[in-house]
Amino acid sequence: MERVRIGVLGTGNIAPLNVAGYLEHPQAEVIAVCDNRPDKARAAADEWGAPKVYTDLADLLADDDVDAVEICTPTMLHKEHVLATIAAGKHVSCQKPIANTVADGREMIAAAEAAGVVLRVAECNVFYPPLVKAKEIIASGAIGAPTMCRIKTVVGTTDTEFQNGLDPSGYVWRFNDQSPGGHLFDDMVHKYTTALWLFDQDITSVQAIVRQAPAFFEAPTAAIWEYERESLLGMMEVTYAPRMHMRSSFYGADEFFEIQGTDGFVWVTRATGEMLDLAPVIVYHPDGTQTHYGNIDSNWLTGFKEGSKHFVDALLAGRTTADLTGEMAVKTLQLCFAVYQASNERTPVDPRTIETSVSPPWWPPDLSNYYESMERYGRE
Ligand SMILES: NC(=O)c1ccc[n+]([C@@H]2O[C@H](COP(=O)([O-])OP(=O)(O)OC[C@H]3O[C@@H](n4cnc5c(N)ncnc54)[C@H](O)[C@@H]3O)[C@@H](O)[C@H]2O)c1
Repeated sequence: MERVRIGVLGTGNIAPLNVAGYLEHPQAEVIAVCDNRPDKARAAADEWGAPKVYTDLADLLADDDVDAVEICTPTMLHKEHVLATIAAGKHVSCQKPIANTVADGREMIAAAEAAGVVLRVAECNVFYPPLVKAKEIIASGAIGAPTMCRIKTVVGTTDTEFQNGLDPSGYVWRFNDQSPGGHLFDDMVHKYTTALWLFDQDITSVQAIVRQAPAFFEAPTAAIWEYERESLLGMMEVTYAPRMHMRSSFYGADEFFEIQGTDGFVWVTRATGEMLDLAPVIVYHPDGTQTHYGNIDSNWLTGFKEGSKHFVDALLAGRTTADLTGEMAVKTLQLCFAVYQASNERTPVDPRTIETSVSPPWWPPDLSNYYESMERYGRE
């Protein structure tokens, strides 16, 4: 393959961030756009210079000029859209989460393998330069043997151009029973993947407490987990701070990652948000010296761009897989559901035992008192 001709399915809120990397790649071309909202499809095609516009997936898949499809439709449609794309013999890049259930994810992986096409699940974190640097530092042994991975996520308010420009219809399917869970499903999959990917270690047991917060939030949440290597543990906290302004260029959310080792530690001080006046990556070395990676590219968009470019490069090189592999996306889903189950049952859960899906007991949430509950949150 000399060039990769991409068809984009779904031109909603996140599509532009994923398409940006294809537009920059010299051997990629966004040749077609498909959305069942004709005005959205046309506007996106104009913006991305795509010559073909469709409103029906069957027409996009019947187009022999399309080599691969970037699937940016709501998560509950991933299975149907990925299986149809694979059946048409086209390579697939599908947004996270891979599907609403582990069994669906497995079916998608098996179909791709049988058809000999690449199934990649788009995950911006594994291409976000500060996290890539942290993984490199851990693998180099610079902080000794990692013993603890701590991931903090806080969601607050922001008034960025990106946030203000989001189409509210993109939230409807996230807030009801079309999804198996809320924020811990939709957003925390990024952190679950990161927790697995940083160490290339399976997680064998999870304990968690998940509380309900307004809308689709599930906070405060605290989870701890065990890796295969006994001397490595992980912990994750998720908080909701609706009256705290978030410094960000994107969503009103921020992340902080700390990997403590036997000899030192590494911090990644941001991802979506840009909260602290600290270098994006800081390493504390065994001799007490520090390295502050102040010039590393920490634009959250770069993770998306690099991921899309990686997919194109994998196809150009004829590789059979691309990151994130379907297998890793399924492990991510298992970890996500293990957190819900561990909290529901207040007992440790081995994520590898989960084959379907798990929801919190209050799911889907009652949104009738949305504004009132938002105002009251945390004050009672
Ligand atoms: N950081 C990230 O990687 C990230 C961030 C946000 C969303 N996502 C993922 O991207 C996916 C889409 O999220 P979004 O926020 O853009 O959603 P959205 O609802 O804003 O966009 C979905 C688009 O798909 C279109 N669509 C729906 N059904 C269709 C069909 N049958 N045929 C053609 N088009 C159809 C809709 O018209 C809409 O334009 C989700 O899986 C979500 O989890 C990833």
